[in-house]
Amino acid sequence: MDIAIVGAGNFGSAFARLARHAGHTVTVSESTAGEQRLRDVAAETGASPAPTARAVAAARLTVLAVPFGAVEAVCTPEVVAAAAGKIVVDVTNPLGPDRRSLTIGHTTSAAEQIAHRLPGSHVVKAFSTLLARNLTTTAPGGSRLLVPVAGDDADAKSAVLALALELGFDAVDVGPLVSARYLEPVIVLLLQLAQDADRAAGRSVEIGLALARS
Ligand SMILES: NC(=O)c1ccc[n+]([C@@H]2O[C@H](COP(=O)([O-])OP(=O)(O)OC[C@H]3O[C@@H](n4cnc5c(N)ncnc54)[C@H](OP(=O)(O)O)[C@@H]3O)[C@@H](O)[C@H]2O)c1
Repeated sequence: MDIAIVGAGNFGSAFARLARHAGHTVTVSESTAGEQRLRDVAAETGASPAPTARAVAAARLTVLAVPFGAVEAVCTPEVVAAAAGKIVVDVTNPLGPDRRSLTIGHTTSAAEQIAHRLPGSHVVKAFSTLLARNLTTTAPGGSRLLVPVAGDDADAKSAVLALALELGFDAVDVGPLVSARYLEPVIVLLLQLAQDADRAAGRSVEIGLALARS
């Protein structure tokens, strides 16, 4: 599948690596401030660098991997038009500066606000409960990590569920996009657990969420 990844930082570059490993065609973009890093990430992952509107126009599915505060700048009229009728996967978490809180929640979510900015697109919340370091081919403890998927368009959600499964995750449909309100706080807990685990072990420890079933 043709995938555009907007944001070539920790999460976007790790996602590009994983998607390329699975055989997808990947285009990455970021703000012009990071041009050299974009070229480095593209060279390292085998993705192509491109301006955001061109990357989104060429893709069937776009992964929005920028800080939530950058979404307004990303959603130019060109990008809104390029994303119309397509799948936009929102991985953002509206973290506060202390990374222990969210700037919005309860009555809305980053995903719903992004859907509002991209009225013609099928926005799906997914992958936001993974740490960037979980985006590898080897999951911690050998378990398949949970990827809850929320969205209002059934076809878009099916495509994202299939992609998450293909990338090696335990993809679970968690209902409409409003469910993002309950997914976005998860990362705060996970960051705290990861930090505590790293501190206790004196090294970087791999942790991630899994769903037990009987
Ligand atoms: N890191 C994680 O473990 C993790 C886990 C789950 C979800 N997330 C979410 O993933 C998103 C990205 O996180 P990150 O850790 O990858 O952050 P990051 O390392 O700071 O990377 C952010 C990227 O967004 C780009 N960007 C900023 N403004 C842009 C614009 N207007 N147009 C295009 N690109 C733009 C930045 O490019 P410039 O440097 O050029 O501005 C940079 O490449 C966040 O919303 C975060 O909550 C992250």
